[in-house]
Amino acid sequence: QSVIVNGEFVERSKAKIDIEDRGYQFGDGIYEVIRVYNGKMFTATEHLERLFESSKKIRMQIPYTINELNQMLTELITRNDLTIGTIYMQITRGISPRNHAFPAADIQPTLVAYTKEAARPVETMRAGVKTILNEDIRWLLCDIKSLNLLGNLMAKQKAVEAGCFEAIQHRDEIVTEGSLSNISIIKNGKVITHPANHLILNGITRQKVLEICQNNNIPFEEIPFTLEDLKNADEIFLTGTTVEITPIVEVEGEKVGSGTIGSITNKLQQLFEKEIE
Ligand code: PDD
Repeated sequence: QSVIVNGEFVERSKAKIDIEDRGYQFGDGIYEVIRVYNGKMFTATEHLERLFESSKKIRMQIPYTINELNQMLTELITRNDLTIGTIYMQITRGISPRNHAFPAADIQPTLVAYTKEAARPVETMRAGVKTILNEDIRWLLCDIKSLNLLGNLMAKQKAVEAGCFEAIQHRDEIVTEGSLSNISIIKNGKVITHPANHLILNGITRQKVLEICQNNNIPFEEIPFTLEDLKNADEIFLTGTTVEITPIVEVEGEKVGSGTIGSITNKLQQLFEKEIE
């Protein structure tokens, strides 16, 4: 397996990260997960643009252009002969003696990227998943795809220990997002999802689904919705790079609608599938 470390392709077992890398010590960095279908990156530009947005928000300079990153990742897919899977990439603020303040501007960020084989989640997309509710206790810059994921990890772990796939997070009465996905509800034929502000990650899959709605005359609205709205929803689904469009069939042990995948969720899945072909 080839991996990328700072623009160089190296064997995974030869890759080295310094113990004072700020990503390792502080989670001082950002990341992206990009889907690979048929040996090609899906929505690569959108992911790379979001990476640059995240870097600006944490005042970190990425020493590559979008084009250079795109070329490197394409080369990585070829080297690893990846047909279906994901690319994980992260950039940290670099290596420097431990100090909370940012290092000098000449410290180079550390870039790491690697591939993983992964099939599409066909089983859960068909059958749907169970979820729990969890108070969203994360910080207030959730729009940044930061390496600091402890809040998300704790939410996910709570879900797993309850025999569920995902935790639906909420700030008081307002539903925000999952631990690794965005949440949408459907009520009376309309798709409703939290607006893209500082309280959620503006998922690329989320954006794709809204674009699909727009192009297919499916009504949608980006507006905060409550736990009560969630409870009364006809359908609920998750979106994300790894989960695509996955129906939620249970919340805290209570069935959503009939407890199986809803018709609009199913239609969105079919339209999404056309995009990735
Ligand atoms: N997670 N919200 C959160 C908190 C996420 O971590 C993710 C993605 C999403 C969906 O974003 P997108 O559609 O761009 O993948 C929403 C990635 C896949 C992860 O951490 O593994």
